[in-house]
Amino acid sequence: MPPAPQTLTLDDAAIDAAAALIRAGQPVAVPTETVYGLAADATSGEAVARIYAAKGRPSFNPLIVHIANLAEAEMLVELSPVARRLADAFWPGPLTLVLPLLEGAPVAGLVTAGLSTLAVRMPAHPAMRALIIASGRPLAAPSANASGKISATRASHVAASLGERVPMILDGGATRLGLESTIVAVAEDQLRLLRPGPIDAAALEMASGLPVTTVHDGTIEAPGQLSSHYAPAKPLRLDAVDRRDGEWLIGFGAIAGDDTLSARGDLVEAAARLFDALHRTESVQASGIAVAPIPHEGLGIAINDRLARAAAPR
Ligand code: TXA
Ligand code: MG
Repeated sequence: MPPAPQTLTLDDAAIDAAAALIRAGQPVAVPTETVYGLAADATSGEAVARIYAAKGRPSFNPLIVHIANLAEAEMLVELSPVARRLADAFWPGPLTLVLPLLEGAPVAGLVTAGLSTLAVRMPAHPAMRALIIASGRPLAAPSANASGKISATRASHVAASLGERVPMILDGGATRLGLESTIVAVAEDQLRLLRPGPIDAAALEMASGLPVTTVHDGTIEAPGQLSSHYAPAKPLRLDAVDRRDGEWLIGFGAIAGDDTLSARGDLVEAAARLFDALHRTESVQASGIAVAPIPHEGLGIAINDRLARAAAPR
């Protein structure tokens, strides 16, 4: 059994220890003003894959990337004048903005689950801010709870939910808001409220001067649109043990292909490479794509979920 997570009371030494883990590609549970987040280096696919492994998420939802100042946001997303007004009004704070991802931005494909937009937030909590600065990375962080369970607002909730699946928990006491951030997709003529939260529609309209439309549950664009958005243009064949005529084979383990998710059969590496590998198929000369079988265990369940959606008839 892996060792119990180290729970550290928040101070400078704890931040340094947590930042060292982040730079080594490990996830760390850290308080924000909303809920505890499970943070990892957003620039590293393998680090982000370890978030999914710890949460036991059966599929890849896109994650929020946390930054400490506006200059960092500008390196990742296109900040329109409307987005700047919202950032001026509510950052640092419990508002997440969904904005166009800049081409070549240093964000692992697994963070956005292949979307062309990125959710960014500048948190107000000193622990999360200090961790971003000390690790020198933008931090991807979903709420620090097991998949399908309620969010954690205390270090003890994190320990109960994720236990030894996280190496370290920074204990900053109870979170101030206890409710996840408001998520808004920003366009020039309107805002779309993707998740209600501490900052309400009236406050968003006031600060932006734009109308807010509410996207109701079930039509949330991110997870809902994933399958159609991310499906590659070419037909996809799963559980392929060999290459048929005209196919581009994505291998795994002993099955070598034109490309591989992980030659050593490592699921963390495979998750980290999945969206990049699918992207690469867009520009190859092939009539179809085949993917080697991925073991249906651990992160393999999430990988197979994404592959099944990408292969679904449309
Ligand atoms: O308060 C919070 O936002 C907390 C703290 C840790 O910052 N984080 C949080 O993350 O609640 P999570 O992963 O539990 O929820 C993130 C939500 C998901 O519902 C996801 O679908 C949505 O953000 N999301 C992420 N990227 C998106 C995108 N590009 N477009 C639309 N929705 C997106
Ligand atoms: Mg959550």
